[in-house]
Amino acid sequence: MKTLKLTVNPLDKRSKINKEIYSNFSEHLGRCIYDGIFVGKDSDIPNIEGYRKDVIEALKQIKLPVLRWPGGCFADEYHWQDGIGELSGRKKIVNSNWGHVVEDNSFGTHEFLRFCELVGCEPYISGNVGSGTVEELAKWIEYITFDGVSPMADLRKKNGREKPWKLKYLGIGNESWGCGGNMTPEFYCDNYRRYSTFCREYSGNKLFKIACGPNADDYNWTDVCMRNIGTWGMQGLSLHYYTVPTGNWEHKGSATEFSEDEYYETINRTLFMETLLTRHGGIMDRYDPQHKVGLIVDEWGTWYDVEPGTNPGFLYQQNTMRDALVAAINLNIFNEHSDRVFMANIAQAVNVLQAVLLTEGNTTVKTPTYYVFDLYKEHQDAQLIYSHIENETAYGNIPCVSHSASIAEDGTVTLTLSNCSLDKEFTADIGAAFGEISAASGRILTGEVHALNTFEQPENVTIKPLDVKTGNGRAAVVIPPCSVMALTLK
Ligand code: AHR
Repeated sequence: MKTLKLTVNPLDKRSKINKEIYSNFSEHLGRCIYDGIFVGKDSDIPNIEGYRKDVIEALKQIKLPVLRWPGGCFADEYHWQDGIGELSGRKKIVNSNWGHVVEDNSFGTHEFLRFCELVGCEPYISGNVGSGTVEELAKWIEYITFDGVSPMADLRKKNGREKPWKLKYLGIGNESWGCGGNMTPEFYCDNYRRYSTFCREYSGNKLFKIACGPNADDYNWTDVCMRNIGTWGMQGLSLHYYTVPTGNWEHKGSATEFSEDEYYETINRTLFMETLLTRHGGIMDRYDPQHKVGLIVDEWGTWYDVEPGTNPGFLYQQNTMRDALVAAINLNIFNEHSDRVFMANIAQAVNVLQAVLLTEGNTTVKTPTYYVFDLYKEHQDAQLIYSHIENETAYGNIPCVSHSASIAEDGTVTLTLSNCSLDKEFTADIGAAFGEISAASGRILTGEVHALNTFEQPENVTIKPLDVKTGNGRAAVVIPPCSVMALTLK
């Protein structure tokens, strides 16, 4: 077994790892909202005010910081006034993006914001720019945040909510280069400036406005947005990048049945996130050297063919140890770029794409991806520190070990490591650049790459305690193939 030397330097503090990097996304798509989050008060499924109890508990457990809603593509066809007031009066509409199913609007603004309160996370609302109006979005902000007398504040009160909510994160358009209106970047920027002007800050509420950013490697989009909006009027610029194993949107590949080649291709395509952040970040640096505008990776994760027999418009896929590796690598990359990446939202929370939770009837399954978020949660709001490993490669030149390290206020270091090799086991020999490691503990998620949690075997893949040795001021740990781990070092 090869030994890899790994160094952390707790004195070399870099950027703060905003807890928002560990955020999630929930869209009116398939069974994410209905079934996944909201089952209604009269359901047999254990619920709190109609929200699945087990889902609330699971999201609290990983300290979910922010939840994005209502889409996605759905957001640019969503008219928020359809989803307020008496249930019986709410419009039934067609969800034309996702399967043409009936959307009965029973989960609207009040329901979303209440869910966030129950989970203890902040809401992130995506406004409709594609098919909405400036007035409509302006009124939504007034409805949610104004503490005074106005038509929208009065309407909110009439609908049962006396005090306004706080709303920080506001997206102005989603994928405006595609499903959000097929706009050119110049046209979008002009629209952004109009919409953004009328999203007022009421009653001490401070908005963090997020412009629609590029699709993957569309560097021109970033350049135009930074030139035409820049630090003038946005606090965040989004980036969407999905890992599609085959690179072919017609045949993306199965979530559960894949070859070794397909696996390593998935990892390779995941690593492209590093290139994207470096290059988009480089463009942003030219206009915003002080890093006032954050990159908001508000859609990322794996995207496979849907599970056989499920509605193609619902994007339901299973989740294996391969997804755990994809999550671990992406999160380490975000940590390393936390000087520019202020938030990231995996797509999506429940039952859609690389979901952290899957539900069926009464049962909720935590996916391998969920456990990665659990392993990494100590990074939230800690300070990124320097870490380096003398790495090995797999399958050509894919680095086997992905890593990042942070230090908390009390001096505890969290080091997250993953090994994407399917056959190489390593020992990590860990030292601190200055000082000694006197105590260490760890937790690990590992299994055969196709291993997954099902409704019959929900705990097939779970976190286990890990033996970490210490001596001579250093720590040593075995990193098995196909594994993700978090170490605590003191
Ligand atoms: O997450 C699924 C979809 O992917 C979103 O609705 C859209 O923004 C993206 O194309």
